[in-house]
Amino acid sequence: MDLKQYISEVKDWPKAGVSFKDITTIMDNGEAYKYATDQIVRFAQEKHIDIVVGPEARGFIIGCPVSYALGIGFAPVRKEGKLPREVVRFEYDLEYGSNVLTMHKDAIKQGQRVLITDDLLATGGTIEATVKLVEQLGGIVAGIAFIIDLKYLNGMEKLEGYEVLSLVSYDEE
Ligand code: PRP
Ligand code: MG
Repeated sequence: MDLKQYISEVKDWPKAGVSFKDITTIMDNGEAYKYATDQIVRFAQEKHIDIVVGPEARGFIIGCPVSYALGIGFAPVRKEGKLPREVVRFEYDLEYGSNVLTMHKDAIKQGQRVLITDDLLATGGTIEATVKLVEQLGGIVAGIAFIIDLKYLNGMEKLEGYEVLSLVSYDEE
């Protein structure tokens, strides 16, 4: 299946000059969503994953069906103030300002093999923060999976040394 055909490209959204890559047209198609999920499940099986971790919100859409298929857990990464118990936090820079992501301190056990999922790799800031949180908790990042890699933003440079799967890539905007 050519998954790219199921991704909608929205010109000049959310601002002029950006071509937004919308995965909701994968999700609302049962065959395409299952195909994408199955690729990531296979990757997770090869890496002997114990638990899936994904950043809100779109990382949940990718990661939760994978954890369900494998019968393993899912631990959410959320913006500050959303998780009710003790958390670890990681702050990272955005183009303007900064962002904080958090995880529950007991979400991962020491030495667990973790798969990180998200819909899309752009600058890599979100996924790098997620990697840092997992490693702070003693998890081993055994795989990172995306539907989309926006190659022209070079996010992959932040993930050197990790096993990364991306299903669709774009060489230019
Ligand atoms: C989008 C996307 C990735 C992130 C990629 O999430 O879902 O998580 O941006 O960008 P980066 O590689 O430059 O960090 P967004 O922050 O828009 O939030 P959402 O998932 O809640 O829609
Ligand atoms: Mg996101």
